[in-house]
Amino acid sequence: MASMDTGRPETIVTRGGYPLHGELTVQGAKNSTLPLLAAALLCRGETVLHNCPQLSDVDAAVRILRRLGCRCVRRGNTLSVCADTMCRCDIPHAMMREMRSSIVFLGAILARAGEAVLSFPGGCELGPRPIDLHLSALRRLGAEIREEHGCLFCTAPKGLRGSHVALAFPSVGATENLILAAATAEGTTILTNAAREPEIEDLAGYLNQCGARIRGAGESCVIIEGLPTLTGTEYTVMPDRIAAATYMAAAAVTGGTILLKNVNSSHLLPVLSAFEETGCSLLQSGTELFLRAPERLLPVRHVRTMPYPGFPTDAQAPVMVMAAVGNGTSIFVENIFESRYKHAGELNRLGAKIKVEGKVAVIEGVPALSGAPVSAQELRGGAALVTAGLAAQGETQILNPAYIDRGYEHLEENLRRLGAEIYRI
Ligand code: UD1
Repeated sequence: MASMDTGRPETIVTRGGYPLHGELTVQGAKNSTLPLLAAALLCRGETVLHNCPQLSDVDAAVRILRRLGCRCVRRGNTLSVCADTMCRCDIPHAMMREMRSSIVFLGAILARAGEAVLSFPGGCELGPRPIDLHLSALRRLGAEIREEHGCLFCTAPKGLRGSHVALAFPSVGATENLILAAATAEGTTILTNAAREPEIEDLAGYLNQCGARIRGAGESCVIIEGLPTLTGTEYTVMPDRIAAATYMAAAAVTGGTILLKNVNSSHLLPVLSAFEETGCSLLQSGTELFLRAPERLLPVRHVRTMPYPGFPTDAQAPVMVMAAVGNGTSIFVENIFESRYKHAGELNRLGAKIKVEGKVAVIEGVPALSGAPVSAQELRGGAALVTAGLAAQGETQILNPAYIDRGYEHLEENLRRLGAEIYRI
């Protein structure tokens, strides 16, 4: 996906220089909600998801579920899904294009219907994003997959059967797809080198509450005993660790304070270390996290993105804004995605001094950024531009906010309540 169809052109406008102060309840995790919605396909009866964020990516997942014949009802942040009426097993190209992570529906549709036809998701704004690991893992469970005319034709002629699967890389999506496919397969699946992200634990937590038998989620080895029947349940989506990190970065670069509610600090450990390195003081208590920024941030020194429990690639862009205004030089190494520095050029338009060479970005902190028109090119990079706009002197216009709407619920309202000058035209 080279660019996103943003529909009516909109722009977020910020006027920087107002320190953020106040408290905010963090939204439910987007990256957890999407696989949970796919998982609802495996269950009889109704699934009720609470703390389900109102985001364009979640709307896209709901459109897919409805297209498959499921009944979905949203009341505020509660989404009910009943897949008893599922009557199709294909996702057309337009829907796959809308959201690259719709590939997570593959394992669930195949498990539920015995076949699935999905348009090939292709690349996206973060780089090529292949799905070879998803496909080879599903093949190990007995799936037959043909790739023709830009489509994936998948069947399980003898049903899906438990197997040993070793992922070559701990891919989050491939781990989720495999768990979804194995939960109702015949026999036991042992998955090694699984992704350990908290969203995987959330998926397994939901499925186990539906009756599944999944052990080890959140660790490298996940054991899934397949069961024929799962039953829908009521479940609360975990807090969004990346949204939390983004709001913390916004408070930090404006020299403010923020009290975040509905946070799981243990999901944020490497991010919290980076904040402490910049001189922010942090106080954790239960599900609350308080941050106070120093007058001038210190550099972050080294950030190396890694699979969980390493520093998350999704927090790289917001934290880079802190480095951009820090008092010294920081070095970032992006190890997960090929094209994840698109925000760096835009930050330079705001006066940052960032040099990118392949995986490495060298950031020389400047005392102040100055407002300019910039363009969001992907979700987290877009949120970083808003963060930078809050710190920049004068007016910043952020084009293509549709990217940001994919992952941040009520972003402008939340920031305005914290004292930011931000609006959308
Ligand atoms: C998920 C998150 C995304 C996050 C990423 C890494 C969702 C909806 N998205 O994306 O926000 O940035 O994890 O934490 O949860 N790869 C392959 N072959 C594959 C699959 C992946 O080579 O079959 C590569 C990717 O190109 C990438 C790396 O593995 O370089 C990590 O990808 P993966 O962990 O699969 O990320 P996603 O699940 O797509």
